[in-house]
Amino acid sequence: MKALILVGGFGTRLRPLTLTLPKPLVEFGNKRMILHQIEALAEAGVTDVVLAVNYRPEVMEKHLAEYEKQFGIKITFSIETEPLGTAGPLKLAEEILRKDDSPFFVLNSDVICDYPFTQLAAFHKSHGDEGTIVVTKVEEPSKYGVIVHKPNHPSRIDRFVEKPVEFVGNRINAGMYILNPSVLDRIELRPTSIEQETFPAIVRDGQLHSFDLEGFWMDVGQPKDFLTGTCLYLSHLTKKGSKLLTSTSEPFVHGGNVLIDPSAKIGKNCRIGPNVTIGPDVVVGDGVRLQRCVLLSGSKVKDHAWVKSTIVGWNSTVGRWARLENVTVLGDDVTIGDEIYVNGGSILPHKSIKANVDVPAIIM
Ligand code: GDD
Ligand code: MG
Repeated sequence: MKALILVGGFGTRLRPLTLTLPKPLVEFGNKRMILHQIEALAEAGVTDVVLAVNYRPEVMEKHLAEYEKQFGIKITFSIETEPLGTAGPLKLAEEILRKDDSPFFVLNSDVICDYPFTQLAAFHKSHGDEGTIVVTKVEEPSKYGVIVHKPNHPSRIDRFVEKPVEFVGNRINAGMYILNPSVLDRIELRPTSIEQETFPAIVRDGQLHSFDLEGFWMDVGQPKDFLTGTCLYLSHLTKKGSKLLTSTSEPFVHGGNVLIDPSAKIGKNCRIGPNVTIGPDVVVGDGVRLQRCVLLSGSKVKDHAWVKSTIVGWNSTVGRWARLENVTVLGDDVTIGDEIYVNGGSILPHKSIKANVDVPAIIM
């Protein structure tokens, strides 16, 4: 089988992290975003993956060559010279997607869930129409593409409305599809939106179905949602009884959902959790309090710091008695001084912070 991942641009909404790495390479739950997706695709029998990007992907190539070997799959970069939106990239990769005339998967690169690709392919085959969209329920549907069903039909879609201004329903496009190659006949090679143009056209012909997602789902393309998504993912690991999680019998683990890379060092008398991810080579000092936060690789949190709802970027340092909260994000190699307070700060790479950030702000 084949899949195309819509990687797109630099992921500006996930700055300052994406000033250092493209969004798909940022670690989510100690694993690069894209690896979550590639693993699940390979498990469902996908052998050809196209990454649709609109920048030169040098940094990504190295990592993806590793994944090709690891999963025995072929990964191709499809590079746009101008952003082609969410449908144009399918046309650009037409040659690969048309291979063997079988349906192909399409994924937004920023959605995280327990990917249901095998069941999705089986369901798509069973109805025999052109396309199937994975849907999930959310409380705030206006940020997403909303689907409405035909009356008296469990899966056939009657309307697809991208970012509705008025409430039409709460079942939304989860950013994962399986489509027949015939959909490519509907797309022109120009900047065009699958949500605004292609889906409404398939819906008019009664050829688009929905597939209900079970369990958690999140678009983690911005820091606030990245943190929420991390909590959902860690809860999912707990529910599965995953061995990756740190045992709740460790005296420093508080409330569970704690994921610590084996190479990280944790000091004495810490209280960690719930919902904490600690990456490779992280050093946590003594008496540190961590909750609902992500410490990326090589970062350091010094003695008695208090960190909540924060992403600490690669190789950054949080000073002693510092207090970070309210969706603070430190880019790569940031230094937060001793006793500093940061409330919702977004700190650009290589900065050194010596004064409190009392109100949410971008510090450059
Ligand atoms: N290659 C390429 N070229 N990819 C692109 C381009 C482009 O020009 N523009 C956007 N993308 C990629 C993004 O990187 C992302 O992976 C995906 O297409 C969707 O774009 P977003 O910018 O993240 O859209 P959204 O989150 O506002 O809405 C989309 O996702 C929702 C679910 O998270 C829509 O598909 C909604 O209908 C959906 O509900
Ligand atoms: Mg998105």
